[in-house]
Amino acid sequence: MTTITVNASRKYNINIGDGLLANCGELILKVKKPCIAAVVADDVTDALYGKTVKKSLENSGFTVVSFVFQNGERSKNLETYSSLLGFLADSGLTRTDLAVALGGGVVGDLTGFAAATYLRGIDFVQIPTTLLAAVDSSVGGKTGIDLPQGKNQVGAFHQPLAVICDTSTLDTLHDNIFADGVSEAIKSGIIGDKGLFELLESGEARAKKGKIIEASVRVKAAIVEEDEKESGVRALLNLGHTFGHAVELLSEFSVSHGSAVAIGMVIAAEIAEKLGIAERPVAGRIKNVLEANGLPTECSYTAAQIANAAMSDKKRSGGTINLILPKKIGECVIYKVKTAELKYIIGER
Ligand SMILES: NC(=O)c1ccc[n+]([C@@H]2O[C@H](COP(=O)([O-])OP(=O)(O)OC[C@H]3O[C@@H](n4cnc5c(N)ncnc54)[C@H](O)[C@@H]3O)[C@@H](O)[C@H]2O)c1
Ligand SMILES: [Zn+2]
Repeated sequence: MTTITVNASRKYNINIGDGLLANCGELILKVKKPCIAAVVADDVTDALYGKTVKKSLENSGFTVVSFVFQNGERSKNLETYSSLLGFLADSGLTRTDLAVALGGGVVGDLTGFAAATYLRGIDFVQIPTTLLAAVDSSVGGKTGIDLPQGKNQVGAFHQPLAVICDTSTLDTLHDNIFADGVSEAIKSGIIGDKGLFELLESGEARAKKGKIIEASVRVKAAIVEEDEKESGVRALLNLGHTFGHAVELLSEFSVSHGSAVAIGMVIAAEIAEKLGIAERPVAGRIKNVLEANGLPTECSYTAAQIANAAMSDKKRSGGTINLILPKKIGECVIYKVKTAELKYIIGER
């Protein structure tokens, strides 16, 4: 087991290892006295791992109650959130009890937000079961739900008490969902770890998942420690996301998040080369690593379509937009452009 400590407003450990699920109760007992543990899972993660988690928690003295909802982004909404809060109240959870998120980013974001707000905040533990959740969403304390008006429109910063990442749970993931997580790991490599990027260049991400998760978590943890609430460098984690969100929107979400971010990273890298910010052949290397991992590098939308969709992104401030551009593999910069110029910058790359 590898343990990475995140020194955010709350200090917590991320435990990464093969087979940790069966000992999750013991790991949680290190940071929390026996109490009521509300395990939140979707129908898929509950069926696969619910029993193991429940048994381990009960063996460590926790009283377990379970909340299960239908898998998928569509459940990350006010309705499920409201049912979950009702469930926590009906189950008699008090301020000293615990929520446990067992699943991917949808379970983590929803459970984290319920934990942030129920009784003005209770402890929660993340048990990520997708690669995306392991390398990205379980780290850093962003929690939230979607509104009909847009994704992640309501949320809170609420750091977990601990993260327990059992790498063997990723073995049951479909390849396309695994690839979505690889896209975020590649992003972490480009932002802050050349060695991680090189590890991914072979395209054997499944075989190297433990190392990939550790390295990605270290990149994200370092950024979160410096800028927990995203007033500065945390924006670097949005590499590929401004254009990625645009592609997701234009495709009416038929292109997955990871695939859209992959395309977005290529657009960002090509812009960076064009502007003389990136050393060549950064864009070429990024394309190759994405292709080696089964991720797309192109889309059929025009520069104007992408620019317009990107400008509806919530991270835009005033008449300018912050682009995250790679300088080289392992280093990115925040580059401000006028929104009016965006489509030309995309088009001329
Ligand atoms: N909080 C953050 O910082 C942050 C960062 C990135 C993404 N996110 C959020 O994360 C969400 C996406 O996360 P995701 O990609 O994990 O989606 P997800 O949670 O919907 O999981 C994807 C699918 O995989 C299934 N699944 C989960 N674990 C499995 C396993 N071990 N074996 C087989 N199937 C399994 C799920 O049931 C689901 O159908 C989005 O809502 C996004 O907004 C949050
Ligand atoms: Zn993302």
